[in-house]
Amino acid sequence: MKSIDIYKGISLDKIPWKREASPNVLIHSIEKLITKPSHLLDLGCGLGNDAAYFASKGHKITGIDSSETAILHAKQLFKEKNLAGNFLELDLCKLLALPKHTYDMAYDFEVLHHIFPSNRDTYAKNVSNLLKSQAYYLSICFSEKDENFGGEGKFRDTPIGTKLYFSSKEEIEELMSKYFNILEIKEIELKGSSIPHQAIFCLMQKV
Ligand SMILES: C[S@@+](CC[C@H](N)C(=O)[O-])C[C@H]1O[C@@H](n2cnc3c(N)ncnc32)[C@H](O)[C@@H]1O
Repeated sequence: MKSIDIYKGISLDKIPWKREASPNVLIHSIEKLITKPSHLLDLGCGLGNDAAYFASKGHKITGIDSSETAILHAKQLFKEKNLAGNFLELDLCKLLALPKHTYDMAYDFEVLHHIFPSNRDTYAKNVSNLLKSQAYYLSICFSEKDENFGGEGKFRDTPIGTKLYFSSKEEIEELMSKYFNILEIKEIELKGSSIPHQAIFCLMQKV
């Protein structure tokens, strides 16, 4: 069964994460660790803006997203910017028939809150399988401590009709520590398109 394409029926200018500049926290955290051209994996790459930033810096990049629309836009963006990148339309919560131990680093920015607890172990295992030994993984998702967005509690509804799952630091730690060493985990504030978001920043290394 195909997963829901959250881009269908929304015009591009209404997509809250459509932005020109990549978030500082993502760029700085990755550039601190990855100092030479590397193979990066953008999980839930969306419209491809962050992938384009890293490709423009000389990294080889693969973007994965379950949305056909997102993948088409990401490919188009790369074409317009004359960048090389590989984009795959895949559900990261399903068994993946992809080569293992391939990437030097993976990141997901504002993706894990789209993935409900019952699917998260498969997701984390997929990420671990795709990474080389000792590779880094940075995950940033919405925190249950957020008081401004979508009401309160774990499951929250958004103005664009999606339902998200807001995590605790402990949940992320428990989920990820099965496959990764946790190097740093903390609550951070993200800028957001209209209001700031409270998020969990989790930097890991493959065991
Ligand atoms: C909030 S958007 C963030 C997009 C991008 N990371 C960014 O910051 O611009 C979340 C993205 O995750 C994708 N996504 C959600 N669940 C997914 C899954 N199971 N497998 C792959 N992609 C998924 C959505 O299609 C969407 O593009």
